[in-house]
Amino acid sequence: MKSLLITGGAGFIGSHLVRFMVNKYPEYRIINLDKLTYAGNLENLRDVEEKKNYLFVKTDINDAEAVKKVFEEFDISGLIHLAAESHVDRSITNPTEFIYTNIVGTVNLLNAARHKWKDDMEDHLFYHVSTDEVYGSLGDTGLFTETTAYDPRSPYSASKASSDHLVRAYFHTFKLPVVISNCSNNYGGYQFPEKLIPLMIHNISNNKPLPVYGKGLNVRDWLYVEDHATAIDLIYHKGDHGETYNIGGNNEWRNIDLVKLLCKIMDEKLGRAAGTSEKLITYVTDRAGHDLRYAIDSSKLQNDLGWAPSLHFNEGLEKTVDWYLANEEWLNNVTSGDYQKYYDKMYEER
Ligand code: NAD
Ligand code: DAU
Repeated sequence: MKSLLITGGAGFIGSHLVRFMVNKYPEYRIINLDKLTYAGNLENLRDVEEKKNYLFVKTDINDAEAVKKVFEEFDISGLIHLAAESHVDRSITNPTEFIYTNIVGTVNLLNAARHKWKDDMEDHLFYHVSTDEVYGSLGDTGLFTETTAYDPRSPYSASKASSDHLVRAYFHTFKLPVVISNCSNNYGGYQFPEKLIPLMIHNISNNKPLPVYGKGLNVRDWLYVEDHATAIDLIYHKGDHGETYNIGGNNEWRNIDLVKLLCKIMDEKLGRAAGTSEKLITYVTDRAGHDLRYAIDSSKLQNDLGWAPSLHFNEGLEKTVDWYLANEEWLNNVTSGDYQKYYDKMYEER
C-alpha cells in the first residue's frame, strides 16, 4: 500500500483534500500530519476517521526530528504539503510564527523527503500547495500566470514565496521531484471563520457588525474548495515534475459586492426582510499593505491536464451558506475560548 502524506489535513483545504483522497483511493494509505493549531480541527474529518486507509499523526513540522520519524515509520512515498499559517491579518500582528512554520517547516519536510528518497528519487513526489499571493497585487486589468514575477507584499505571502523558492531549489540542486500549485481564494464548509466568507456568514447570523476593510473595493478570485481538491489530485498524478500550475476560479468579486450578495442570500435563508443584513456592514480601517486585486489565469492547468472548476459561484455560495447554517455547533466550537477574545480585540483596534 502506498503511503501518501498530507500535511495540514485537519485545516480547511486539507480536510477536504483528505476526505477526497481517502474516498477516491482506497488503495492508498492517507496519513494526515497536523499540529492541530487553532486552525486545525479533527471534527472536520469525523466522517473518514474510521476508514481503514486513513491515519492521523499529531506532529509539528517545525520539529525536524519528528518529521523525519514520520517519513521512516510510515515509508512515505508521496507528500502533499498544505500545513501553514494561512491568515494574512495574523501575519501582520505576528510575522515570526509564519517564518517558522511556512519556511522552516517546509525545509524540514524537504530534508526528510530528500533523505528518505535518496536511492530512488524518481518514484516519489513532493507537492507543495501555495498561493496566488506570491505574485503580489494586480491593477484593474491583467491576470497572474505561472511566469509572473514574484512580488509578495505581506509577511504571509513572503513566507509562502520563500517556501516556493526553496522547493524549486531542492528540485534543481538535489533532483527532488517536486510540483507546485498556486491557487486563488478558496471558499466552502469547514473554513475557519476569521476568513472573509465564513466570518460574514457567522456575523450576519449573530447580528454582529460586518467589518469591510477600507472601501471594500479589493478584488479576489474565488474557487470552491472541492474544485481545488480535484485540481490537486490531477496535478499530483499527472503534473510534470519541476512545474508550477496556477489554479483559479475565473470568478472575480469586489469584497463589498460579495458581502452584499451574502447579505441577500442570508436574508432569504433566515426569513429576514430584504436589506436587513446589509445594515450590519461597517467600513473599518484597511488592512496594512492590502493587495488590491488577485486574478488567476489557469489555462495551463485547463489545457495541459484538462481541469475545470465545476461549480458556478451562486451555487457554491448557496451551498456554503447552507453548510454553515446547518453546522452552527461547529462554528460555535471553533470560535469558543481564546478565539473570540482575539477577534473582539482585533475588531476594536480597527
Ligand atoms: P488552514 O489555516 O485552514 O489550515 C492549516 C492547517 O495547518 C491546520 O490544520 C493547522 O493545524 C496546520 N498547521 C499549522 N501549523 C502547523 C505546524 N507547525 N505543523 C503541522 N501542522 C500545522 O489553511 P488553509 O486555508 O486550509 O490553507 C492550506 C494551505 O493552502 C496553506 O498552505 C495555504 O497557504 C494554501 N492556500 C490557501 C488558500 C485559501 O484560500 N485558504 C488559497 C491558496 C493556497
Ligand atoms: O489568495 C489566496 C489566499 O486567500 C490564501 O493564500 C490565504 O491563505 C487566504 O487566507 C486568502 O487570503 P485573503 O487575505 O485574500 O483572504 P481573507 O478571507 O482574509 O480576505 C479576503 C478579502 O476580504 C481581503 O481583500 C480582505 C477582506 N476582508 C477580510 C476580512 C477577514 C475584509 O474586508 N474584512 C474582513 O473581516
